[in-house]
Order: sequence, then C-alpha cells, then structure tokens
Amino acid sequence: MKLCSQVIGAISLVLILGSLNVKVVECKVGRGLKNTEYYAINCRKHSAVLTDFGGVGDGKTSNTKAFQSAIRKLGQYASDGGAQLIVPPGKWLTGPFNLTSHFTLFLHKDAVILASQVESEWPQLPVLPSYGRGRDAPGGRFSSLIFGTHLTDVVITGHNGTIDGQGSYWWDKFHKNQLNLTRPYMIEIMYSDQIQISNLTLVNSPSWFVHPIYSSNITIKGLTILAPVDSPNTDGIDPDSCTNTRIEDCYIVSGDDCVAVKSGWDEYGIKFGKPTQHLVIRRLTCISPDSAMIALGSEMSGGIQDVRVEDITAINTQSAVRIKTAVGRGGYVKDIFVKGMTLSTMKYVFWMTGSYGSHPDPAFDPKALPNITGINYRDVVATNVTYSAKLEGISNDPFTGICISNVSIQVSEQKKKLQWNCTDVAGVTSNVTPNTCQLLPEKGKFDCPFPNDKLSIENVQLKTCSIKKVF
Ligand SMILES: *[C@@H]1O[C@H](CO)[C@@H](O)[C@H](O)[C@H]1NC(C)=O
Ligand SMILES: *[C@@H]1O[C@H](CO)[C@@H](O)[C@H](O)[C@H]1NC(C)=O
Ligand SMILES: *[C@@H]1O[C@H](CO)[C@@H](O)[C@H](O)[C@H]1NC(C)=O
Ligand SMILES: *[C@@H]1O[C@H](CO)[C@@H](O)[C@H](O)[C@H]1NC(C)=O
Ligand SMILES: *[C@@H]1O[C@H](CO)[C@@H](O)[C@H](O)[C@H]1NC(C)=O
Ligand SMILES: *[C@@H]1O[C@H](CO)[C@@H](O)[C@H](O)[C@H]1NC(C)=O
Ligand SMILES: *[C@@H]1O[C@H](CO)[C@@H](O)[C@H](O)[C@H]1NC(C)=O
Ligand SMILES: *[C@@H]1O[C@H](CO)[C@@H](O)[C@H](O)[C@H]1NC(C)=O
Ligand SMILES: *[C@@H]1O[C@H](CO)[C@@H](O)[C@H](O)[C@H]1NC(C)=O
Repeated sequence: MKLCSQVIGAISLVLILGSLNVKVVECKVGRGLKNTEYYAINCRKHSAVLTDFGGVGDGKTSNTKAFQSAIRKLGQYASDGGAQLIVPPGKWLTGPFNLTSHFTLFLHKDAVILASQVESEWPQLPVLPSYGRGRDAPGGRFSSLIFGTHLTDVVITGHNGTIDGQGSYWWDKFHKNQLNLTRPYMIEIMYSDQIQISNLTLVNSPSWFVHPIYSSNITIKGLTILAPVDSPNTDGIDPDSCTNTRIEDCYIVSGDDCVAVKSGWDEYGIKFGKPTQHLVIRRLTCISPDSAMIALGSEMSGGIQDVRVEDITAINTQSAVRIKTAVGRGGYVKDIFVKGMTLSTMKYVFWMTGSYGSHPDPAFDPKALPNITGINYRDVVATNVTYSAKLEGISNDPFTGICISNVSIQVSEQKKKLQWNCTDVAGVTSNVTPNTCQLLPEKGKFDCPFPNDKLSIENVQLKTCSIKKVF
C-alpha cells in the first residue's frame, strides 16, 4: 500500500506509518490532473487514493474491503491533521462502510460509488431510540450505505461525483411487502458534530438520502439529489433532532419530501426529547408531485424550533412548507420563518395537517397534543395552483400565531371553489390574494417577521483545500 503525504515532517510520518506497514512515496502531480482544490470546513494533512487499498473501479468488483480498510487506516491520523480518501474516476461498487473523525471522503467528478444490492453485505443496526421501531418494519434496520456515529469533523464532498444507491432492488421489496427490516438510507450520521456534505450528485437511494440525526453543526451544500418521482420514501434531506444546520444550493427531484425536518416519533420521540432547532434552508429547488418541498414532521415529537427558510423554488410539487402532525405526537413546531417562495404548479401553497395519523404502535398517548405556534410566511408568488390553503389544526389544540403577508396566488383552470379552507387555526394576514379565511383576517399593512440575526452555522467559513495526487 502506498500513502501520499502532503506535508513536511516526513520523519514522524515514517514512524507512524512504519507501524501500519505502509510505504510513504513522493507525491507527484501527474497526467490528467493538476493540483485540485475543493472547499471544506477543514483540510487534511494526509491523503490516499482508494486504489492504494486495492480498489477496482470496473463497476463489478466489490470495493467494500477497500473502503473499509482505507478508512480504518486513515482513521489513525485523526490526531495528526486528519486524512482524505480520494475516490478516482471509475465505478466503485461497494457495500456499507463507516466513516471516522477528522476525515474527508472526496469524489472525483467522474467517480461513481455504486451501492451493493447484495443484502448480506448490509449490517443490521438497532432501531433509532427516538422512533422506537423501524419505518418499514417493526424490527431492526439496515445500515446506511455511508454511516458514521460519534464523530467530529467529517466531510463528504467532491467535484460533483456521484453516489448511486441502486434503489430499485429495495423499492421492489417495499412494494411487494417483503421487508422485515427497514430499508437503508444513503448517508446517515449520528451523534456527531461538524459535518459537511457538499458538491455531490446523489441518485436512487433505497429510502431517505441524507439523514443527520442527534448531531450538530452541519453544512449541506450544492447537492443534486435525483430519484424517480414515484419511488417510495426517497426523502432528500432529513435533519432529525439536529442543532445548527445549514442547507443551501440544493436541487432535489424525489418521490417524497425534498427536505423533511424531524425529531422523533410519538412516545419514543417525546421521551428522547431532542429537538431540531436553529436550521437555515436557502436556495432550494424542488420537484416532488406527491409531496412537500419542505415538510415539518410528521415525526416532530422532540420539537422543531427556529427554522429559517429563504429563496426557495418548487415546480410541480404538492405543497411548499407543510406542517404534518397528529394527536399523540406531542412536541412542538415553533418560530418558523419563511421568506421568498416561487411556486409553479402546486396542489397547495399552504398546507397544515393536524390529523396525519401513522403511529409507531397503539401505545401512543392520546393526551400528547402538539403545540404549533409562530408560523410565518412572506413574499410568495405562486402560479397554477389548485388550492391556496388547507389549514387544519386540531380541535381543542388550535395552531396559533400564523402570519402570512405579501402573497400572490394565481389559481389554475381546475381551481377549487373553497380556496382557503381553515379549521382550528388562528393568525393574521396582510396583502394576500386571493382573499383568506375568517380565521386569518387581513390586519392592515405589515410584513410577517423574519430574523435579522445569524445562526452560528452561517458564520462557518469553508477553507480552500488541495489534493496533490495522480489519479
Ligand atoms: C458501523 O458501525 C456500527 C456500530 O457503530 C456497526 O454496527 C456496523 O457493523 C459498522 N458497519 C460496518 C460496515 O462496519
Ligand atoms: C464544487 O465543485 C465545483 C467544480 O466542479 C467548484 O467550482 C465549486 O467551487 C465546488 N464547491 C464547493 C463548495 O466545493
Ligand atoms: C452536478 O451534476 C448534476 C447531474 O449531472 C447536474 O445536473 C448538476 O448541474 C451538476 N452540478 C454542478 C454544480 O455542476
Ligand atoms: C426476512 O425476510 C426474508 C425474505 O424476504 C426471509 O428469508 C427471512 O427469513 C426473514 N427474516 C426474518 C427474521 O423474519
Ligand atoms: C457547534 O458549533 C458552535 C459554534 O462554533 C459551538 O459553540 C458548539 O459547541 C458546537 N456544538 C457542539 C455540540 O459541539
Ligand atoms: C397546471 O397544473 C396542472 C395540474 O394541476 C397541469 O396539468 C398543467 O400542465 C399545469 N399548467 C401549466 C401551464 O404548467
Ligand atoms: C405553546 O408554546 C407557546 C410559545 O412557546 C407558549 O406560550 C404556549 O403556552 C404553549 N401552549 C401550550 C398549549 O403548551
Ligand atoms: C413581495 O414579494 C415579492 C416576491 O417575493 C418581492 O419581490 C417584493 O419585494 C415583496 N414586497 C415587499 C414589500 O416586501
Ligand atoms: C375543509 O377542511 C375540512 C377539515 O380538513 C374538511 O373536513 C372539509 O371537507 C374541507 N372542505 C372542503 C370544501 O374541501
């Protein structure tokens, strides 16, 4: 095995590497690729290429061992400046592998990671404590393709290289009701801090694509996420019980919500009690004919608070920023701010549902009512809309503090007569066409609030990192 070091201090390196039985070689910048740059929360001192670990990029040979042994070895540099693993041009078939701290996985623009369809390659993990069961089946769940837990400082990036989940195998099993474990996600990072996932194309995940959970300080940027619009549960990005998350410049076409903000399910989520808070989403484009551009819930039992959404676009999508909850969920959705939505061909512009149903088991607490309050939308232009709004709170538990301002909705030819259907909600509106419902009266001229301060995750600057290596 060859390992390429980018820095001086060769003597100490040889000492460290000696014990790993690897050879340090001179790094030359050779044919095809000059020094390459990318942007990341942290750069790495050490660098290796997947082929150094026996990787074969023919689309047929399994690289599971190559990925696993590469990351295991590179993990030993965590306290010595960290390491990056470069996936060169080629098609790299692999089963799941686990990430390590102070580590970067970098995909060349012509690199494609292909997920194995051999089920025995996929480790089984216990169910998530805030869910109490799997989403597809009550028992355990398959590991995600790229998995990490209890990590700090992890980057998954590239020059728009591709990760292909080859999800059709799993979608078929789902449709045929043959799953006794929950399907894998594409990328899941748990109990971790300082995560970056950027500049990649992700296609055909078996289920959700990107799932940070119980984590903090997460930057998700420049992802193109593509799945057939009829594929089951292929959510794009699901921040779940996470603090300080920034999602920007993403383009998502999928069979489920483009972004789904979550925090655990019914009694399990209430008990676990970890909210998703301090989340900013901007410059998202979404196509999802049967789902939402951004869903808040339905699993929101640990609470969702302080979400800022700006400059988002949906095309041929069922709804825009939707709230999904139910009796039994408990928790809250509070302080949600949406500013600047451009929407075309929508079933609903505004949609809130207090009767979402779907419980983990019959033991949910019927007295656990969600608190939905402080939901603000402003500056919306929508065309070809079927229903302007369906806002359905919960009786004896109304959704309150709704504010909607500066909204222009052009309804479609097939428009429905009742454009604003409001039950068990309370709030105010200003400068909204067509006219709203009695529960959301026009209250003169004002703009709904949007915070002026910045979240700490917005102040994180990406550094320019380099790769000096022949592919
Ligand atoms: C990844 O780590 C989890 C436990 O943290 C383990 O159960 C799983 O088997 C590991 N996966 C691989 C591919 O080694
Ligand atoms: C993404 O990759 C492109 C090159 O393909 C590069 O120009 C751009 O700066 C990269 N962005 C980040 C955030 O790394
Ligand atoms: C990344 O690749 C996808 C798929 O080919 C493409 O649609 C997208 O525009 C690319 N993104 C960038 C920033 O080049
Ligand atoms: C899971 O399902 C497969 C068939 O899809 C079956 O062979 C296997 O025995 C099942 N395992 C359990 C634990 O039920
Ligand atoms: C997240 O980043 C902030 C600001 O950089 C820092 O204060 C905080 O400790 C980090 N969160 C965790 C859980 O480490
Ligand atoms: C308007 O929406 C309908 C579906 O409600 C769709 O069939 C039609 O193509 C859309 N028209 C335009 C001009 O986008
Ligand atoms: C809901 O949350 C708001 C704001 O935090 C609070 O004032 C109110 O008392 C809560 N309502 C209920 C029913 O808990
Ligand atoms: C109203 O919304 C439109 C579209 O987003 C925006 O261009 C305009 O500046 C807004 N008007 C005010 C007064 O904020
Ligand atoms: C309005 O919404 C309520 C509550 O969801 C529903 O029962 C009713 O059928 C809706 N009315 C129309 C005309 O769609």
